[in-house]
Amino acid sequence: MRWHIIRLSEVGSTNDIARELAEAGHPEGIVVVARRQMRGRGRLGRGWASPEGGLWFSVLLRPRLAPADLSKLPIVASLAVARALRRLYGLPAELEWPNDVLVRGRKVCGVLVESAFSGREALFSVVGIGVNANFGLEALPGELRGRATTLRELLGHDVDLEELLNAILSELGACYLALKEGKGSELLREAERLMGFPRPLSVACGGRVFSGTALGLAEDGSLLLRLPDGAVRAFSWAEATIKKP
Ligand code: BTN
Repeated sequence: MRWHIIRLSEVGSTNDIARELAEAGHPEGIVVVARRQMRGRGRLGRGWASPEGGLWFSVLLRPRLAPADLSKLPIVASLAVARALRRLYGLPAELEWPNDVLVRGRKVCGVLVESAFSGREALFSVVGIGVNANFGLEALPGELRGRATTLRELLGHDVDLEELLNAILSELGACYLALKEGKGSELLREAERLMGFPRPLSVACGGRVFSGTALGLAEDGSLLLRLPDGAVRAFSWAEATIKKP
């Protein structure tokens, strides 16, 4: 995969800029990187604190994939980040469904994939990736500090953001190629291994909370949860989120 990197200083959200470029007809492979985001977005309408020192970027893809493979994209993107953090820094990076990257239980990276469709076919997907890198926890809102971490906190030093971007893009390119070659199930199994199943988990979905044992991932990336009555229910990442105790 050949990447074309566009570097910006301060933006609202890199996902918005990548989307505008997609709508203007630009090809896949464009990467929009910003030093700071003023209106960074997270999943499910949440904000995403994006101070200077983080790695905030969005990748434009035009995936010609079957719906079941397209829905693996967010998990595959977080897998690419976990691989890069393991390879570059030897960190024990793990995944939390659907697409958070954690180290020792604290979130170091979030992924937000936004797609536009014509019928069931994706016109484009914007894969937004935010890595808390070269800043301390004090740069994050108070309510996040107990659950988040940064590479500076984990490693005790700052990292080379260029090197990190290149490593993530290289892993993302390899994962995207594997997805296109029909190896999506292998990627899901790798992601599952980094999610620590089976384990007790609560999921918020449609205003209700479901507690049970998380067993693994369905082929479309949904989370399989065994409920106390023994039934196994699949939760889609588009509408559900993990509920912390
Ligand atoms: C989440 O964990 O809720 C997802 C966070 C995704 C943040 C990244 S930072 C780059 C891109 N631009 C955004 O506005 N969001 C994503």
